[in-house]
Amino acid sequence: MSQVRKAIIPVAGFGTRLLPISKAIPKEMVPVVDRPLIQHVVEEALAAGINEIILVTRAGKSAIEDHFDAHFELEHSLASKGKDALLETLFAICPKHLKVTSVRQSSATGLGHAIYCAAHLLDEDEPFAVILPDVLVKSQVGSDKSDLGSMVERWSAKGEAQIMVEAVPRAEVQRYGIVDCDEPAAGESADMRGVVEKPSPEEAPSCLSVIGRYVLPHRIMALLSDQPPGAGNEVQLTDAIDRLMQEGNTVQAFRMLGRTFDCGHIEGWLQANTTLAREAGYEV
Ligand code: G1P
Repeated sequence: MSQVRKAIIPVAGFGTRLLPISKAIPKEMVPVVDRPLIQHVVEEALAAGINEIILVTRAGKSAIEDHFDAHFELEHSLASKGKDALLETLFAICPKHLKVTSVRQSSATGLGHAIYCAAHLLDEDEPFAVILPDVLVKSQVGSDKSDLGSMVERWSAKGEAQIMVEAVPRAEVQRYGIVDCDEPAAGESADMRGVVEKPSPEEAPSCLSVIGRYVLPHRIMALLSDQPPGAGNEVQLTDAIDRLMQEGNTVQAFRMLGRTFDCGHIEGWLQANTTLAREAGYEV
């Protein structure tokens, strides 16, 4: 079974829900406690054994690429002053074994289209992860394994696609992809029968929402190549995953153990800041 080594992170969105913060700063660069949101997400990928990040980006968001690039003048300045601790902080952003590549999304035509923009950067038949960076996923307190790490392990063991889910109130299902499956216990996976993007509360097959962490087989790229627009007239990753199942492939819903913060809107971002700050020992 091919290992999951790459994660595609779509970062081409406008971040309108975070305006005015996100007018001139990419929303992925907004800080959560002591580092930008995107750095938390890349650290999550690294902890799951993923060492190549493919950013799907657009004009005006180069601060994200700069964040993971070397900064020679700053490094030289810190080194010449003997500021070793700060230098280490700088080098930890992009450790030597991490590769960050980027590709541009030419048109804002949906998540499925964004993911497909990275198709040529995968090897033949290579599986991959998708991480939506608005959502910060925090591991269960005291657990040494992350939820994404568990999903990658499950893929390695059986080659079955994994979609991270959590329960949401039925009134909120139309904000998410909603899976059709018997409810797995937390930390477990269950076979899915289908998945639907942003259903109405009456039509939703369950209250288990897609969080924004996926481990997918290469086949999904072929499905995305001719995926017609779906909900919101956008090419939906959810629809291609549903087709993957209709073709007879096993796709599992992995019910997370940890906690999510939707940093794409102010309230979730504030909660992430206060929760993570307290855990890090700050008085807030
Ligand atoms: C995307 C996905 C959706 C998922 C959600 C999680 O929707 O299409 O299936 O539940 O992210 O945040 P978006 O929030 O981009 O509309």
